[in-house]
Amino acid sequence: MTATFGRGVRIAGTGRAVPAQVLTNKDLEKLVDTSDEWIVQRTGIRARHKANEHETVFSLGRDALLQALQASGVNPADLDMVIVATVSGEMLCPSTAARISEAVGADDAAVFDIAAACSGFLYALNMADTMIRCGRAERIAIVGVEVLTRLVDWDDRTVSIIFGDGAGAAVVVADPDPSRGCIHQTMHGDGRMWRTLYHPRNEREVPPADAANPIRLGHLRMHGREIYKFAVTRFQEAIKDALDRTGLGVDDVQHYICHQSNQRIIESAVEKLSLPPERVYVNIDRYGNTSAASIPICLDELCRAGRIEPGKPIILVAFGAGVTWASCVWNA
Ligand code: COA
Repeated sequence: MTATFGRGVRIAGTGRAVPAQVLTNKDLEKLVDTSDEWIVQRTGIRARHKANEHETVFSLGRDALLQALQASGVNPADLDMVIVATVSGEMLCPSTAARISEAVGADDAAVFDIAAACSGFLYALNMADTMIRCGRAERIAIVGVEVLTRLVDWDDRTVSIIFGDGAGAAVVVADPDPSRGCIHQTMHGDGRMWRTLYHPRNEREVPPADAANPIRLGHLRMHGREIYKFAVTRFQEAIKDALDRTGLGVDDVQHYICHQSNQRIIESAVEKLSLPPERVYVNIDRYGNTSAASIPICLDELCRAGRIEPGKPIILVAFGAGVTWASCVWNA
């Protein structure tokens, strides 16, 4: 296919799916040594969804994508690519994208997963925009989905209170207007920090400094304070850089969609950069941190509420394990 840079990209439809069971902070008080007050004050989380044995990364991702396809009017057989951002897929091989594409009837699509943790959906959105913009694809489905509650040690009160399960999806398509879609993007990583959040399955995967860590093998190990400090700085830098590079003022942006990891991290960016708080979307109180699903769930809630105005920019930022971080200025 010939590269075609004179065109843009549009979000044609979005969707989301979350498990039926809601786990409130009060429910958690019965499982670990914590309190509703501590969790709300330190994170902003009040409840999260938790998958049962039948709800999986595959099933939630499939349901979110079916919704997004229906909203977009795109025929699944016409999809060129299905990208799934996840670090909690049930099967290492094949990709979750392969199984989801079969379930939705995307029979002629390239399929692969991205493991960039909480930045995964933004990595995928940035890549999809680039592929379409340069004429390598016309229609791409992106899914962000996690069932991290299965990887949590329920005796670990710092990790078990944070994560929730869910999926969000978007179908992006070529648009004749080149000003639409991603007008600025960044993707970063710093592998030297991978030990701040990881999932060891055996002792060989545990760094020596963590050997005495009491968290059981096969569960997430997190150094929350270190991640917190890193995330506060990176969020602020990423938003400031996005505004500077595009010449946008803080009031020109219709929505700031930040990865929902901790409300205090988002609030520190609002304060430091004087962002209009009413334009900074927050739903962490209802979902917790759903990792790769957090940004597409926000996007879907805004789309379905009719709150995305065409022609106006949105700034999206995320950070996650790896460590990874990414940003995107999306002209709706
Ligand atoms: N309930 C009650 N007390 C808790 C607790 C809980 N769930 N978790 C930790 N504490 C206690 C600690 O034991 C500590 O007690 P001490 O002072 O007696 O030693 C105290 O609270 C402070 O612990 P600290 O870890 O410094 O808290 P914090 O303010 O950093 O909050 C996190 C912890 C995990 C909420 C916060 O660090 C965070 O959100 N980090 C980022 C995590 C993240 O985003 N991970 C995903 C990457 S995308």
